[in-house]
Amino acid sequence: MAVKKLTWRSIVPYCYKSERPSSRASKKVVAKQTSFQRLSLSDLSNPSSTFSEDLSISLAGSNLHIFTLGELKVITQSFSSSNFLGEGGFGPVHKGFIDDKLRPGLTAQPVAVKLLDLDGSQGHREWLTEVIFLGQLRHPHLVKLIGYCCEDEHRLLVYEYMPRGSLENQLFRRYSVSLPWSTRMKIALGAAKGLAFLHEAEKPVIYRDFKASNILLDSDYTPKLSDFGLAKDGPEGDDTHVSTRVMGTQGYAAPEYIMTGHLTAMSDVYSFGVVLLELLTGRRSVDKNRPHREQNLVEWAKPMLKEPRKLSRIMDPRLEGQYSEIGARKAAALAYQCISHRPKQRPKISDVVKILEPLKDFDDIPIAFVYTVPTESDSIKDVKEGDAQKELKKKNNHHQQNHQGHKHHQLKSPKSPHYYSENMVHQNHRNNGLKSPLHQRGRGI
Ligand SMILES: Nc1ncnc2c1ncn2[C@@H]1O[C@H](COP(=O)(O)OP(=O)(O)OP(=O)(O)O)[C@@H](O)[C@H]1O
Ligand SMILES: [Mg+2]
Repeated sequence: MAVKKLTWRSIVPYCYKSERPSSRASKKVVAKQTSFQRLSLSDLSNPSSTFSEDLSISLAGSNLHIFTLGELKVITQSFSSSNFLGEGGFGPVHKGFIDDKLRPGLTAQPVAVKLLDLDGSQGHREWLTEVIFLGQLRHPHLVKLIGYCCEDEHRLLVYEYMPRGSLENQLFRRYSVSLPWSTRMKIALGAAKGLAFLHEAEKPVIYRDFKASNILLDSDYTPKLSDFGLAKDGPEGDDTHVSTRVMGTQGYAAPEYIMTGHLTAMSDVYSFGVVLLELLTGRRSVDKNRPHREQNLVEWAKPMLKEPRKLSRIMDPRLEGQYSEIGARKAAALAYQCISHRPKQRPKISDVVKILEPLKDFDDIPIAFVYTVPTESDSIKDVKEGDAQKELKKKNNHHQQNHQGHKHHQLKSPKSPHYYSENMVHQNHRNNGLKSPLHQRGRGI
């Protein structure tokens, strides 16, 4: 396939202030070649370098807008605290609004602007990974990267705004309305479809950071995966895995990956299983505020996942029993397979999608207690099941409406530190490194 070589500067021309292009030049990165081949980080000769000018690369298909820092200040009202959405390992995220005057051809829309807290070359590399992966991958279950800013030492990313924030906030925030069962299943299915798209791409991608805070929710709770800073191209040819530094989040990373650094698509499936458990139980993958033996969700829940009688003990109490028992059993059995210690015993993500597909439609949700004022006819017969079903439907609709209608509040949550890095790879399984999370994303190469 003939792929035209482009230079690094032709992708991120604004990084070099002295050579900022004229306004007519590249306000938007447009694919220049007709044949499409997804660019990988490895196609860059020196991706860690912030200032290297001659990184020869082949790029295709990106359609990203390049913003100036000034423009992003305008749309976020100078990153004002009233627009603050949250903060992760990379830095703060602010809401912004692009109006139709900002740029011809760019639709007026709300956006989320992530300001990278650059610390050495690692931050730049993760920024670049995000631009390269998300700039080229488009899917209904991946958050859309609209553009970026690369001006002097500043690195920012501009995403479509996701009105319901992250699954983490929706599931664990103390005063949020509980997510109904069908919404939980919808989220699990959509997120699995996002992963399946990555794993089954012509050039497969391992996501590596699947977790509740990276699943963002649209207004109708459609889930979209975000944060590709740790994504990796999958193994090619006869290779069974790629070797990497262990990076990810405590409680979600697969055990074999932590022990060996060997990364496969099955590492993502393990993390998916952990998120599915979070959806079932309403508990965080790691929760230091619980009694010691309940702190690690996988260890605590695993023995109960295959026993239907015990399952109800671990289901999220906030569901108040309003879930399909058959659906819960199937989802629990699926989670059990996904968190298997042996990667080969885990299902492929495409099989996960097939198993989850029907679960959102199970309606064997138990009939809630409904107090019925006795009437004459009631005194001779019980409430007909049909009535009770109607009552339940009404209750569920009400529940759903309440839920859909609740106002989204973003937590200005101080993030608990949860990243661990390469230094912990081999020694950590001996001293149980999972107990000592890093305070930030792994830095340094
Ligand atoms: N596109 C978006 N739309 C709306 N809110 C967003 C968007 N992207 C991020 N956020 C919010 O910003 C907050 C920080 O997100 P960020 O991805 O930086 O960190 P995180 O996922 O919480 O942690 P980590 O660094 O481990 O990924 C999250 O609480 C999320 O809800
Ligand atoms: Mg994130």
